Amino acid sequence: MTATETMGVEEAGKVFVDPTAYADEERFHRACALLRAEDPVHLVEDPEYPSFWAITKHADVYDIELHPAIFNNAPFPVLGPTEALEQQRAGAGMLRTLIHMDNPDHKGHRALTVDWFKPRSLARLDERLAELARRSVDRMVELGGSCDFARDIAMQYPLQVILSILGLPESDYDRMLTLTQELFGNQDPELARSADPAEILQVLQDFGMYFNELTMEKRASPAEDLASTIANGTIDGEPVGLIETISYYIIVATAGHDTTSSAMAGGVQALIEHPDQLQRLRDDPGLLDSAVDEIIRWVTPVKHFMRTAVEPYVVRGHEFQPGDMLLLSYPSANRDDEVFDDPFRFDIGRSPNPHLAFGYGAHYCLGAKLAKMEIKALLTELVPRLRSVELAGEPELMQTTFVGGLKHLPITYEVE
Ligand code: HEM
Repeated sequence: MTATETMGVEEAGKVFVDPTAYADEERFHRACALLRAEDPVHLVEDPEYPSFWAITKHADVYDIELHPAIFNNAPFPVLGPTEALEQQRAGAGMLRTLIHMDNPDHKGHRALTVDWFKPRSLARLDERLAELARRSVDRMVELGGSCDFARDIAMQYPLQVILSILGLPESDYDRMLTLTQELFGNQDPELARSADPAEILQVLQDFGMYFNELTMEKRASPAEDLASTIANGTIDGEPVGLIETISYYIIVATAGHDTTSSAMAGGVQALIEHPDQLQRLRDDPGLLDSAVDEIIRWVTPVKHFMRTAVEPYVVRGHEFQPGDMLLLSYPSANRDDEVFDDPFRFDIGRSPNPHLAFGYGAHYCLGAKLAKMEIKALLTELVPRLRSVELAGEPELMQTTFVGGLKHLPITYEVE
């Protein structure tokens, strides 16, 4: 009997409510493969969670993403235990980011910054990214041939980028780190953060004050940065509401951090474990773009988003009803062998690579291009300077059901 046959679909569906399952990739992917094969639209019932349908096939995630008027992001874009979701409902309105919105609001709010995230506009960051990437690799040299790449390098660099794009001083680094950790904290006991709603409210209030000051400053003297674009933005001639403005800073400060750092650390692990692919990249830097995409598919740092049906709609023969909650499993979609040849092969030349790690459609990741530029800048600097690299211990994944990847990647290396 194979390992797959020992797990039933009921047990498989429980991985989506179990942070430890995401820290055990073999178990997680085995469960998803079983669901894709046997019950791709699967009802998960757990006493601590609201019932939801786990969507594990690429084509179905895609179909649902393409119908945002039928499958809304509100009221709960992210899965949580019933109690936590009820608390969120009670405090609804405290945080209204793009991922909490549907049309008509979503369109107007997204339009505020969409140009800023376009390639032509992002091109001005090239030099800054190259400089931050160089500093990261210099730091590896300073660390003297061994480090925890996840903690010492990958966690640091995307946060520096975010400070740069928001136009914040480097002295605010610790503040931003706290924000990401407190607000979108994962469920890993080692990285434990408070789940107490009163403390989370306090964090939001502190940041409310901080960002309010920033808004005033950027209105008085606008600069080229993203914070100025947000602070001075208008929708239909009206200034953006205070909560929405602050939420905007918060989504930018948080969405681009753990995601990108997880991709970087996971990418380095994949290159170490597939030395032929690392050599291929050394020999042919023309593969950098496809390598970045493959790394993002391979790691898939965002584990899910939720949708709630507002109209009946049929997916794979199942008719959803208004009120049904759906979990879109991006890591599962990205290992679907109906779309990817040999999906468990890490292939830096994979093309086409229609992965869904950035979602799709109306909510498609606003920072996708930026994230790719960041990873590419790091690899551009690191790969030619890396004489050798090896694992120096067991890589460890975060326990999380939402965003994450490696929390530890001990390595030894020779870097020039
Ligand atoms: C590898 C890195 C990243 C991954 C895997 C990622 C993934 C995602 C995913 C899956 C979504 C939801 C898409 C959907 O619902 O269809 C999203 C939305 C979003 N991301 Fe990213 N992201 C990354 C980096 C970034 C960066 C660097 C930024 C900005 C600094 C960013 C900003 C956003 C924003 C603002 C949204 C909300 C878009 C909307 O609802 O309209 N992300 N991202």
